[in-house]
Amino acid sequence: MSDRDVAHRTLLIPHPYEDGMAEAWIAKHTGDFGDRRTATFAMVERDRNHLCGAIGLGIDRDHNIAELGYWVGKPFWGNGYCTEAAKEVIRHGFTSLKLHRIHAAHFVRNPASGASCKSWECKPRAASDSTPQSGASMRMSCYTVC
Ligand SMILES: CC(C)(COP(=O)(O)OP(=O)(O)OC[C@H]1O[C@@H](n2cnc3c(N)ncnc32)[C@H](O)[C@@H]1OP(=O)(O)O)[C@@H](O)C(=O)NCCC(=O)NCCS
Repeated sequence: MSDRDVAHRTLLIPHPYEDGMAEAWIAKHTGDFGDRRTATFAMVERDRNHLCGAIGLGIDRDHNIAELGYWVGKPFWGNGYCTEAAKEVIRHGFTSLKLHRIHAAHFVRNPASGASCKSWECKPRAASDSTPQSGASMRMSCYTVC
């Protein structure tokens, strides 16, 4: 997560990523999961149980909808981890969490995330501008997962 190439493609990962931020982020997961605010999962390498990324649903409890977010560590890009994890987390969101809808969005200048979104069934929504924690406002392509 301290990798600029990862942070600058996401809305929520700060950069620089200071000591202690990862611990604080991880410490929130259990409580937020219990309160149904987020459902965050580790992605691990297929051949050994080492962390290679994370994926999660940020849940709007009032409307029972969620936003899907994900990152994969750079050495692991292009191995299908995001596609495989997203399909499972989307299935979990609809079947176990009983969400009505799941949204996803990526910066227009992030084709890898765009390709990931297109690898599961989704409908495009109106584009919008958003400001990432690590920089200036940018155009986003937005999707509703079907
Ligand atoms: C986006 C990201 C999560 C993709 O993870 P990944 O595990 O490498 O993705 P996958 O291997 O599952 O590939 C998904 C699709 O993206 C395509 N892809 C992968 N890297 C790509 C690249 N650099 N440019 C274009 N397409 C790319 C793959 O070919 C695949 O498409 P296909 O199914 O049509 O073959 C990863 O690049 C990443 O963490 N980027 C930085 C953080 C980020 O962008 N998070 C998402 C914010 S919206």
